[in-house]
Amino acid sequence: MAFVIDGKKISNDIKDELKEKVAALKEEGIEITLAVIQVGNDPASSIYVGNKKKACEYIGINSLSYELPETTTQEELVALVKQLNENDEVNGILVQLPLPKHMNEELIIRTISPRKDVDGFHPQNVGALSIGQKGFVSCTPAGIIELLKRSGITIEGKECVIIGRSNIVGKPMSMLMLRENATVTICHSKTKNLKEVAKRADILIVAIGKPRFVTADYVKEGAVVIDVGIHRDENNKSFGDVDYADVYDHVSAITPVPGGVGPMTIAMLMKNCVDAAMQNQ
Ligand code: GUN
Repeated sequence: MAFVIDGKKISNDIKDELKEKVAALKEEGIEITLAVIQVGNDPASSIYVGNKKKACEYIGINSLSYELPETTTQEELVALVKQLNENDEVNGILVQLPLPKHMNEELIIRTISPRKDVDGFHPQNVGALSIGQKGFVSCTPAGIIELLKRSGITIEGKECVIIGRSNIVGKPMSMLMLRENATVTICHSKTKNLKEVAKRADILIVAIGKPRFVTADYVKEGAVVIDVGIHRDENNKSFGDVDYADVYDHVSAITPVPGGVGPMTIAMLMKNCVDAAMQNQ
């Protein structure tokens, strides 16, 4: 029987722990504020941003909301980010991605002060992670480490295979697993014999963005499978990069979609906001 890793419960536990911490900080007169910027009104982004603001409210973090029109110029956005960088009341700055095509995302990310970069996307934070220094870590991979640890899954010494090499998930995930003393392999579109490589994994992390791509023949008997994908079927029901029903009988533990990795991203964002406020004291 596979152990189903309950991301919803674990994320709620983390949010409750943070809520207590935030209340204690308030007693000391410390308020935490996250600035959330959305440019345009992409429906998926609006849902993500709404959920982030809801989580802030639950935990007791103030959120400042900037809903800018699609026609906002890059200069205007840069000016807003710089103004928030300078504002001592603001602890964290989040610019929801993707940005409209006329903007240079990399430049915008670089404009955010690394000390307020609660997404962990700034090159300084990415670099810090790769050399084992302190800094903000991208929320989804950080959430996966929490899922594993809080489920009692040992990482040290394990063979970890990551399918996907994005800057937001695959690459930081590999650094975090290395930091936890796993042996790490990253696979991508040019990897040869992907099935055979994936089958080496004690812990298989799938962030490839292809619906139900990973079937039982990618999975070693007894492996732990973490599914980062989110897709929707014609009834708007979500499912992942892993064919859950197909692999279920072969794994020792697995994250469901929904209710696995997804809820952890926001929980870790909230943790980064609290950390940002603590470091700024
Ligand atoms: N778009 C999709 N995921 C994310 C995220 O984690 N942070 C930001 N800023 N934008 C996103």
